[in-house]
Amino acid sequence: MKKRIEPKRYLISFDSHTLSHIFTDILVVGSGVAGLSAAIQASKYNSVLIVTKDKIDENNTTYAQGGIAVVLSPEDDVVKHKTDTLTAGQGLCDASVVGMIISEGSKRVQEMIGLGAEFDKENDHLIFTQEGGHSFPRIIRALGDSTGREVENTLIRCIKKDKNIKVFEYTYTIDLITEDNVCHGIVAWHPKKGTTLIWAKQTILATGGCGQVYRETTNPNIATGDGLAMAYRAGAALQDLEFVQFHPTTLYIAGAVRFLITETVRGEGGILRNKNGERFMPKYHERAELAPRDVVSQSILREMQNTDHTHVYLDVRHIPKKRLYTRFPKIKEICESFGIDISKDLIPVRPSAHYMIGGIKVNRFSMTTVKQLYACGEVACTGMHGANRLGSNSLLEGLVMGNIAGIEACKSAQGVKRKLAPFSIHETSGGSKTSWLDLEDIGNSLKSLMWRNVGIERDEKRLLQAEEMIDMWCKYVMDKEFSNPFGWELQNMLLVASLIVSSANKRKESRGVHHRTDYPQTDDIHWKKHIVVAK
Ligand code: FAD
Ligand code: SIN
Repeated sequence: MKKRIEPKRYLISFDSHTLSHIFTDILVVGSGVAGLSAAIQASKYNSVLIVTKDKIDENNTTYAQGGIAVVLSPEDDVVKHKTDTLTAGQGLCDASVVGMIISEGSKRVQEMIGLGAEFDKENDHLIFTQEGGHSFPRIIRALGDSTGREVENTLIRCIKKDKNIKVFEYTYTIDLITEDNVCHGIVAWHPKKGTTLIWAKQTILATGGCGQVYRETTNPNIATGDGLAMAYRAGAALQDLEFVQFHPTTLYIAGAVRFLITETVRGEGGILRNKNGERFMPKYHERAELAPRDVVSQSILREMQNTDHTHVYLDVRHIPKKRLYTRFPKIKEICESFGIDISKDLIPVRPSAHYMIGGIKVNRFSMTTVKQLYACGEVACTGMHGANRLGSNSLLEGLVMGNIAGIEACKSAQGVKRKLAPFSIHETSGGSKTSWLDLEDIGNSLKSLMWRNVGIERDEKRLLQAEEMIDMWCKYVMDKEFSNPFGWELQNMLLVASLIVSSANKRKESRGVHHRTDYPQTDDIHWKKHIVVAK
C-alpha cells in the first residue's frame, strides 16, 4: 500500500519564550458530556481548566435527541443490555468494558438525576422507550426529544458552582505539547489573546467526533475531528477509524441542515416508506424499522437506488396527534418551519454521517498511549461499540468514561509533586504562509468526496480514488501555515479523512457499519481484529 503523507508535528511555528503561559493541574479540552463530567470529578482536589472552541454548549451533546440507554427499569438487567451491545458490535466490542460501562452507567445517571436533571416521567416513574437493536425499552429522555440539552445544562450548572473550575470559551486547541511521549499541555489560540501555551499535570481530550468530514451529517460545525488529528500528530494510537456510523433518518430538504429525526420516532411506531408509498423494512430484517442502524441505513440506500429517488419517507400519521406533538416537540417545530405537518405529511428522510465509532485508543481508565494524556467521549475508542454502536449508548459512555478520566487524572495529578515548569520549545513548522488556496472549496470537495466514496457502501476502486484526491489536497494544504481555525480545521479534516480511508481500504470484509460491496461477507478468520494507526 502507498505510504500516507505524514503530517508535521505541530500545525504552527512557535517559540515558547515569546508566548504567554498558563498553568493548571488538570486541563480538559471540550465541554460536552465527556469533558464536563471529567472536569467535575477532577476538580475535587485540583485546579481544572476547561478549554472549548465555541460557546460552552455548542457540541454534539447538546443536539442529542433520543436519550440515554440505561438499566434502571426493574424488569431490565445489565446482562440483557450487554448482550444487545455485543450483538450490535459484531465481534469487535471489548466485553469487559461493555459490562463495566453499563453497570457504572446506572449509578452515573442516578447521580445526574440527583444533580437536578429532569428526565420524562409518567405518574412519577421514568418513561422508557425502545430503539433499534435494543431488546428492551431502556432509553430515558428529556423534554420529549431534547435529552442532550438537559444533560448539558445540568452539567453546566455544576461547573458554574465549582470554584476549582475555570472555563475558557472560544479558545481553540491547535496541538498537544509533548516531549518523549509525555503530554504537558496544549498550544491554544484565542481571537483576541492570540497563541498561549497552557501547561498541565494531566490533559484530558474530550473533543468529540468528526461528522463534518462528510457532506451529509447530523453533527454541528464544531465536529471537525481536531482531537483525533492532534492526538495522531502527537504520536497517540488511534483505532477502528473505518467504523463511521450513519444515522438512517435525517430530514432531507434541499438547502436545509440535516436535522436528525430521532430513532425513537421509529421506536414509537414510525414506519419507513419508499417513493411508491410501500413499507420496505420488513423485507430486510425481522425487527423491521427497529433493526440495528447499519441495516436500516443500508436498506434505505437500497430503496433509494431501486426507486431512483433521493430519499425515502418516515410516516407517523397513524400516531395520535396529541401524543406525537408532546412526544416530539422539537421535530414538530423544525418540520413545521419547512411546511411539513408531521401529523398529516410524510417526512422526507435519508441517512447522514452521525458518529465516529473509532477514536483515540484508550484503556478502561481512559488512558491513551501517550503518558499524562487521557481521552473520553466520542473522540476516544474504548471498545464499547465494536463495529456498530447501539442507539443511545454514546451519552452513557461519555458520562461513565468522562467520570473515569476525571477520577484517574485527579489521582495522577496528585502524584505529581514537582511544580509545573514550562520547557523551551522552538518549533518551526516550515510551512509557507502565503497561499492561493480556496480553503472553502477544498473543504466542500473533501466532504462530497467522503460522502460519495467513503459512505455507507464502499469498494476498493472508490477508496483508492478518495485516497488519491486526499493526497493531492494534502500536498497543497499540509505544508501551509495558517493563522486561524479555518485553516487548522481543514488540515485536521484532511488528516482524519485520510486515516478513515486507509483503514476502510485495509479492512477487506463487511462488518457492522463498514460495508464493502467488493467484500460483502464478514471474515472472522482474518478480520476479527482492530486496525490501529499511529504516526
Ligand atoms: P461533544 O459533545 O461533541 O463535545 C466536544 C467538545 O469539544 C465541544 O465542546 C467542542 O467545542 C470541543 N472541541 C472540539 N475541538 C476542539 C478544539 N480544537 N479546541 C477546543 N475545543 C474543541 N447519543 C446518545 O447516546 N443518545 C442520543 O440521543 C444521541 N443523539 C444524537 C443526536 C445528534 C444530532 C448528534 C449529532 C449526536 C447524537 N448522539 C446521541 C451522539 C452523542 O450526542 C455524542 O456522541 C456525544 O454527545 C459526544 O459527547 P462528547 O462530550 O464526546 O463530545
Ligand atoms: C437518535 O435519537 O436517534 C440518536 C440516538 C443516538 O445517536 O444514539
